[in-house]
Amino acid sequence: MKNIVSTLIFSLLVFNQSLQAQLSDRKMDSFVRSLMKKMSLDEKIGQLNLITPGWGVPTGAVVSTDVESKIKSGKVGGMFGVIGAANTRRIQEMVMTNTRLKIPLFFGSDVIHGHKTNFPIPLGLACSWDMALIEKTARVAATEASADGLNWTFSPMVDICRDPRWGRIAEGSGEDPFLGSAIAAAMVRGYQGDMSQPDQIMSCVKHFALYGASEGGRDYNTTDMSRQRMYNEYLPPYKAAVDAGCASVMTSFNEIDGIPATGNRWLVTDLLRKQWGFAGLVVTDYTSVNEMTDHGMGDLQTVSALALHAGVDMDMVGEGFLTTLKKSLDEGRISMKEIDQACRRILEAKYKLGLFQNPYRYCDESRAARDILSAPHRAAARTAAASSFVLLKNQNNTLPLSKNANIALVGPLADNKRNMLGTWAVSGVPEEAVTVMEGIKNVAKDANIRYAKGANISDDPTFVKRANAFAEEITVEKDRTPQQLLEEAVRVAQASDVVVAVLGESANITGEAASRSNITLPGNQTALINALVATGKPVILVLFTGRPLALEQEAGSVGALLNVWFGGTEAGNAVADVLFGDVNPSGKLAVTFPRNVGQIPLYYNHKNTGRPEGPDQIGNRFRSNYLDVPNTPLFPFGFGLSYTSFEYGPLQLNKTSLTGSEILTASIQLSNTGNVDGSEVVQLYIRDLVGSSTRPVQALKSFQKVFLKHGERRTVTFNISTEDLKYYQYDLTHDWEAGDFDIMIGSDATTVKTARIKWSR
Ligand code: NOJ
Repeated sequence: MKNIVSTLIFSLLVFNQSLQAQLSDRKMDSFVRSLMKKMSLDEKIGQLNLITPGWGVPTGAVVSTDVESKIKSGKVGGMFGVIGAANTRRIQEMVMTNTRLKIPLFFGSDVIHGHKTNFPIPLGLACSWDMALIEKTARVAATEASADGLNWTFSPMVDICRDPRWGRIAEGSGEDPFLGSAIAAAMVRGYQGDMSQPDQIMSCVKHFALYGASEGGRDYNTTDMSRQRMYNEYLPPYKAAVDAGCASVMTSFNEIDGIPATGNRWLVTDLLRKQWGFAGLVVTDYTSVNEMTDHGMGDLQTVSALALHAGVDMDMVGEGFLTTLKKSLDEGRISMKEIDQACRRILEAKYKLGLFQNPYRYCDESRAARDILSAPHRAAARTAAASSFVLLKNQNNTLPLSKNANIALVGPLADNKRNMLGTWAVSGVPEEAVTVMEGIKNVAKDANIRYAKGANISDDPTFVKRANAFAEEITVEKDRTPQQLLEEAVRVAQASDVVVAVLGESANITGEAASRSNITLPGNQTALINALVATGKPVILVLFTGRPLALEQEAGSVGALLNVWFGGTEAGNAVADVLFGDVNPSGKLAVTFPRNVGQIPLYYNHKNTGRPEGPDQIGNRFRSNYLDVPNTPLFPFGFGLSYTSFEYGPLQLNKTSLTGSEILTASIQLSNTGNVDGSEVVQLYIRDLVGSSTRPVQALKSFQKVFLKHGERRTVTFNISTEDLKYYQYDLTHDWEAGDFDIMIGSDATTVKTARIKWSR
């Protein structure tokens, strides 16, 4: 009886909720309908125009001109690059006082990993494998961005990438579609919530689609892949963001099946809108309509019509829509219905943001002082940064250090505020960033520190000039040669007990337009490591990087290797927290580290081939391998050490033979066998042994991040259903196929316990 009553109450609640949703949809619909009745064609086309005055970070050659007169004459639907509540208020007022219909503007920005309080770069955050934490970072970002006048973020970036040459690998969640999907959804939840509050902003999943598969890792380059690969390996994170309610989608620069994404009707209309049911707003990337001319798709009028017809609503910066759609309509190349549709979607998004109720909803100037760079936000950034670090090597417990150690602190990134935030920190404040030197001084007051720069990040003038085009993040010593810098560092090392070498990439050689054909440590840094190691002192390499680097030699020679990505505002404090053991590292790689650049693309969930490499490399000539390097990575996906040790018991299954909708329960006993408390990411992979299409050798299907006190043990259980076995088959049917499956549980993709099961229909 009790059950019946609670089921009834639950059904009533659900019914009530869906009724409320329908009512509010109807209200929105009638509002937008009546507004559109009053709009002229020019006013409608004006809404499709997103401009930037270039006050932010222009990421293309073009910035908008005559901004003020365009705003006043209703030729603008939204802006980005305008930050600060007073600024957005001033512009919103311009709209309210000068335009006929007073339609408020969107104010967007690339709030990628925090607004002014910066969190680790997304690739680093992904290595936390902590969805609650990631959601929280997006929540904090939305709070700060909205306090600074913004209502739209161009995030999350969810492009799967298996090529660390591509600089933008730093902006995404790595190589795995399952982990990437979980993160995409968490970020959307964090930014948007239900968009009912003024500290919740619209999120925009990007770059739709497949941008991370640019050939050769060269930015903006062509992508080309089978539909099966697309559906199984690259599309899931975009879909996860859409399913989580993401209100906008940005098209990518690349082509797909020979048609640029921005003009690709199959992508935007058939897949996104029809198959996935996306009803929100689609915006282009920066001048990507215009760029279709260079792709070879025709003149501006032609490509603008192509984009609108594809299902795109808003044109970022290029003004192809603004300047050509009317003519195309007159000539019958597009329809009024297509313009209306695009305009309606933009107005609906504004309605959902509450802008028609209150155009100044996000222009509360009193909020910034309270909400931006607040102590709780900084504390969250410190926790997030430490959670993103991945301990890749720790020979003989080189780490943690004692708080009164005698340390040689060496490296161009050891005392460097400019490079703590990482790429895409548009509103980040480098002066607010904590350097590693400062962090060490904060955390280990009794440590004795001797500092030497040791090397420039790079000494190649052309490389430095290109890297520093926007900000001088690589400073080259003018008065000392690389050899002199190195010798000073060696002297400092000799006078100390341990060396902390803080090396890596500058932020500006990662991210957009920062592809590298060579992914080693730049400049003289490897020589520096070799010289430091030769002193015989233990060397700890603290690596700042936006991509996996090829570090086989360095990783072999140093005592410890702590990969810290770019940790954000609190990077230095977080590094010190981990170096001195106040925080036990728990990050696991969300991306494979290759041994060398020639192995790329190297990813854990690859296919088997008809001639897999097999365990016996040498003499195994006619296999899918290289003569000069094994197929194995330097560090596999999912890998990361801790200051404690975890032991995995035997893998236990409730059954080994299942039928249809039965549930497989796989469990394993995890014990913290070391001396300190710590967290472990327990990973579940599945291999489908026989399929109607070839299947990857393993695919992540679940994970749990488990905290155990030292000496504690816990059974970690996963429930698996046939949903977890489904994949997109040759004809793109999404289903599972009966047969044998290997169930793997372990601490990284290569260290697993395996058991075989049979699942029948
Ligand atoms: C170009 C980038 O590809 C995109 O990610 C970004 O959102 C826009 N520029 C706007 O800055």
